[in-house]
Order: sequence, then C-alpha cells, then structure tokens
Amino acid sequence: MSTLTQLPHASPGQAPVQSVNGAAVKLRVEGLGKRYGNIDALHALDLQVRSGELLTLLGASGSGKTTLLQIISGLVAPTSGRILIDDRDQTHAPAHQRDIGVVFQNYALFPHLTVAQNVGFALDMRAVSRNEAQRRISEALTMVGLDSMHQRFPRELSGGQQQRVALARCFIYKPSLILMDEPLSALDRKLRETMQMEIKRLHRETGSTIIFVTHDQDEALALSDRICMMHNGRIEQIDDPQTMYERPRTLAVARFIGISNVLEGKVLPGNRLDGADGNVALPEGHGAQANQSGALVIRPEHLHAVAAEQGALQGQVVDSVYAGVETRVVVRLASGNLLVVRRSGGDAPLTIGSRIGLEWLAQHARFLPA
Ligand SMILES: Nc1ncnc2c1ncn2[C@@H]1O[C@H](COP(=O)(O)OP(=O)(O)OP(=O)(O)O)[C@@H](O)[C@H]1O
Ligand SMILES: [Mg+2]
Repeated sequence: MSTLTQLPHASPGQAPVQSVNGAAVKLRVEGLGKRYGNIDALHALDLQVRSGELLTLLGASGSGKTTLLQIISGLVAPTSGRILIDDRDQTHAPAHQRDIGVVFQNYALFPHLTVAQNVGFALDMRAVSRNEAQRRISEALTMVGLDSMHQRFPRELSGGQQQRVALARCFIYKPSLILMDEPLSALDRKLRETMQMEIKRLHRETGSTIIFVTHDQDEALALSDRICMMHNGRIEQIDDPQTMYERPRTLAVARFIGISNVLEGKVLPGNRLDGADGNVALPEGHGAQANQSGALVIRPEHLHAVAAEQGALQGQVVDSVYAGVETRVVVRLASGNLLVVRRSGGDAPLTIGSRIGLEWLAQHARFLPA
C-alpha cells in the first residue's frame, strides 16, 4: 500500500493534491474500462500519473492508447471506473471543464486563420485582454521557434511548422495536463527527433504534466520520464525507460522495446532451459519453477560471437546490417530461430555464410514466463 499524504493547498480554490510515496499525483485512473460492442478496448486499468512527469503510452496498434486519452480528455465516456484530476473526480465532467490541453496527430488548424490567430484562438474564448493575448501569442510562438510566422496561413507552412503551431496553441493557455496522441507520426525522422527535443524542452520549461502516445519505442525511450506499455487493453508494465529496456517484466514488453533474442523452452531441474534451440543455463535467481514454459531473453549487445563449436549456441551468419555506430549481425540457429548480435566498429567482420558460436554472461539473460 502506498502512503497518502495530504499536502497544503497551493492556492485558494485549487484542489488538495495527494501524494503517493512523496510524489504528487496529477491524474489517477481507477478501474477504468471501455467496452465497444463485445470488444474490451480497456480492461479495468489502474494508473497514476505524477505531477510534472512526461509519461508515454506505448503499445501496438489497437492496444487502447487513444481510447485511454479520449476518456481522460472527456471526449469518450468510460464503461466503468473513474478519473481523478488533482484528486477531484472528473469522470463525468464535460471536456471543456477539464484543465487539459490536447494535441492530436493531425491537429486541424483553422485554414482561414493566420498562425497568430490559430494560436490565440483559445484565449479569445477565455476573455483575455488584447494586449495580454498579443504578449502570450508572441511568447508561445517564440517558444516553438516560429517568431517570424505570425501572419502566415497554415497552407503556407510545412508539416513540422504546422505541428509547432498546434503545440504553441496547446501550451499558450498553460494547461496543467497535456495529452498528445502521436503528434509527430506524420513527420520525417529528422524532424521528428528535433520536435522530440522541443517537446522535452517545453515540458521542462513549463513544468506541465504530459501524457504522450506513441507506438514508436525509440520515441518513448527518448522522451519519457516513465513508459506505460499497453497490450490488448491492459497495462503490461510502467517503469522508467532504462528499467523497461533492461528489466522487461513480460515477453510482450521485451519484444516491443528494443531488439530481443528469444530462446523459448521449458525449465529443467538444475537451472537449465530446454527447447528447440538447445539446452542453456538460466541466470541465478531466475524465479522459474521446474517444468514452467518461458523464454530466455538476451539483448543483442550482450550476445558475443566466438569460434564455431564454442559458446552455448551454434549458428550461421545470414545477414549483416550496417547502422553507423554498430553492425547488426543476424545468426540463424539450427531451429531456424534468428538471433541478432550487435558488433561495434572495432570488431572483426563476420563473413556471411560462416559458422560461429554464441555466448553471453548468465547475468545478462533474463527468464520471462510464457
Ligand atoms: N469508436 C469505436 N467503436 C468501436 N471500436 C472502437 C472504437 N474506438 C476504438 N475501438 C477499438 O478499441 C480498440 C482500441 O483502439 P484504440 O484506438 O484505443 O487503439 P490505439 O492503441 O490508439 O491504436 P493505434 O496505434 O492504431 O492508434 C481497438 O480494437 C479498436 O478497434
Ligand atoms: Mg491511436
């Protein structure tokens, strides 16, 4: 059980903020379910988002990421469960009454309004004075690097610039919770990486809480304070990026984040795993029961090529993919299973077609139950 502590009010009229193990909670999702016909898009989710963190929802197509964001924003009603923002139950509050900013993948800008008018749109509706509005529009456009573009129309902007306008429009009224649904997926890789840095900077500078949806694991690793991995409408694991990568708790997480070499099999007495790829040692403290089915997971950087007939496994080099700082060598085992070995510039090249052995340190392999 977590310890709940009541913090003093930050300002009059603001809801009391409870803390979980010391960190204030911005959003609390309790038993949240959503059913469409006979499909459970979400299965009774529990999630706590800390104040000021950038949490990504990561998962394959159809895992429920957008559904969860839509329910938090108030666009879709849940079938069960509740949503608390700053400790107030907002499950049935209309969308416009929640202090939430939203940026979607193709955030439609108004085509007949200039950049400045698009960005200031939300302020008009909030009865902010003209001078104050001008000041905040300029500030927001400077923030996203669009200083000189106040008078342009959306059609005169590139995709990346339009997406920046959408960000400025969201940040301008300083919502304390921001939801972003794949806001960068329409951009090319280079621009996407630049925008990721922009979002990180905006997040740092504004101190807002951000929930960011992506199905791109690299994006999630680069951006997040924590990653919430979703799979078939359920949360598989929530952790910081490094823990998620180094200590995935399920095979689904190991397979989704980074490249994983997976050796499936059954646990034998004597701490061995036996399967189609052979009989290999389990790491100490693997926690598996005899006869349990599961897999040994080893990251490419922990697999080492050794001479044929040496090492724990034998295979044939079938491909070699150059990727700048590293080369990924693909090795086929007798079972047909393909493993990836990461080699750096200094390593001797491996000839395609050659037979090699593979080894790893026991502590670098993880056993995950099936
Ligand atoms: N309005 C709807 N009516 C019926 N089913 C829906 C509706 N919206 C979503 N679903 C279903 O709910 C499940 C989750 O969909 P959701 O859009 O949340 O997935 P997602 O993780 O955002 O996927 P993607 O990465 O493709 O955007 C899917 O099976 C989807 O078909
Ligand atoms: Mg989606």
